[in-house]
Amino acid sequence: MGLLSDKVVIVTGAGGGIGRAHALALAEAGAAVLVNDLGGARDGSGAGSAMADAVVKEIEAAGGRAAPNYESVATVDGGERIVAAAVEAFGRVDCVVNNAGILRDKTLAKLDEGQWDDVIDVHLKGTYAVTRPAFLRMREQGDGGSIINTSSTSGLEGNFGQTNYGAAKAGIAGFTRCLALEGQKYGIRVNAIAPAALTRMTEDLPGAQTERFQEMTPEHIAPLIVYLASDLARDVTKRIFFVGGGRISEMRMVRAEGVKKGNGLWTPQEIANQIDVILE
Ligand code: NAI
Repeated sequence: MGLLSDKVVIVTGAGGGIGRAHALALAEAGAAVLVNDLGGARDGSGAGSAMADAVVKEIEAAGGRAAPNYESVATVDGGERIVAAAVEAFGRVDCVVNNAGILRDKTLAKLDEGQWDDVIDVHLKGTYAVTRPAFLRMREQGDGGSIINTSSTSGLEGNFGQTNYGAAKAGIAGFTRCLALEGQKYGIRVNAIAPAALTRMTEDLPGAQTERFQEMTPEHIAPLIVYLASDLARDVTKRIFFVGGGRISEMRMVRAEGVKKGNGLWTPQEIANQIDVILE
């Protein structure tokens, strides 16, 4: 009996990169996996069934259970069809891993509306579009569930040339923290990861050719996903984990001690006088 033998897991964008590694590890742990992938290029253009089909074949060849799905996560209809496909194939949904993603990197000065919308639609709206029907299904099943979203240090710490992607990824972190509160009374846990691994998405980023980054594989990310999907993590919710190359650490939003004025309003000059303490 594997750790996830009784679980049905949806992984979006599971045709390549990190999502493929998630799907293989989840299936190895016994989960039935819906392998969703639109099958397009890194920038989101194009589509096809080959990527999802190949991962399903790999899982089945290893003795696991999987079904393919080729919908885009970026629409509400697509999200509903993804969840319906998992229910049709395996009868229920216990976990969703929102992983699908694209890049349209430009500095803000060069970023047009289409490049903004495409990235927000796949990452942020896509997380909403798949999670909502899955959340409703989990609530109806009454056995709790696990939702695992994919944020990024680009959104949580900032990265040059990624205002669209960073906004989407920070939005996903906020979505995670809010939905975790809503899921609590149903036992539905909501966490996020901020991964780092060499994939087609990161292969041409500065630093990608260093030995350290070359050793950060998608397979390093997958054990945390298996853990979060499992009942071993039954008390873990509302957390965001950095995970890459063997390191796992919590990413926290902190409010510093700051300064407080006892009575009356601050003047701008008083704030200027205290700014080093405020930013300490
Ligand atoms: P990738 O490009 O190899 O994988 C993304 C997958 O999503 C592709 O297989 C693609 O076909 C699929 N996809 C794209 N649009 C889709 C849509 N509308 N519907 C369904 N599937 C769609 O990239 P990688 O690196 O594996 O990224 C996986 C996730 O991890 C993404 O959300 C990415 O933003 C995030 N991430 C990756 C980092 C890294 O170091 N590789 C760093 C931080 C975040």
